[in-house]
Amino acid sequence: MSLFVTFEGPDGGGKSTQARLLVEHLRRNGHDVFLTREPGGTAIGDQIRRVLTSLENTAMDPRAEILLFSASRAQLVHEIIRPRLDSGQIVISDRFYDSTLAYQGYGHRLSLEALRAITAFATGGLKPDLTLLLDLAVEVGLRRRQKGGHWNRLDAYNLSFHERVRKGYLELASQEPERWCILDAG
Ligand code: TYD
Repeated sequence: MSLFVTFEGPDGGGKSTQARLLVEHLRRNGHDVFLTREPGGTAIGDQIRRVLTSLENTAMDPRAEILLFSASRAQLVHEIIRPRLDSGQIVISDRFYDSTLAYQGYGHRLSLEALRAITAFATGGLKPDLTLLLDLAVEVGLRRRQKGGHWNRLDAYNLSFHERVRKGYLELASQEPERWCILDAG
């Protein structure tokens, strides 16, 4: 049975660790599972990821950002996610389009309607079956990121940006409670 599960949440919430643990658990129980992440997850997507995270690209406009995230996502769906779901695998992704709605929509205040249209085009309408939100106070998340040494351009937005992202996630979850599960990442 195919199943598409995504992890979402602010930076420093431990998504990658929890995604890996879930994959290990499912594999031990005999399931065929594939783990991927955004931005990236393909050779083309990883090149786009480098452009997005480079500390040299501070001049990047949020609209350019969303198109790059979407380009990476389109490639990931086409090359990795769709074929695996079609062959009955479980696919787990560390971030998917809800990150765009939360960061570019709520964080940068771009039109949610436009973002949903771009997203639907990029994914061919693919939606996760289940989305796990690792919710965390903004200060805690940013502190963990700084300590972890993985600081990149996208972490450098100010505190109120990250607060809007968190609120955005909670709002998205409340709009589709049957798809989302909120976990306390503190
Ligand atoms: P992240 O998962 O934090 O990568 P890493 O763990 O290596 O830092 O993702 C990178 C950043 O990209 C993160 O700050 C969230 C942001 N992002 C968006 O703004 N929009 C998107 O659509 C996606 C997928 C990520």
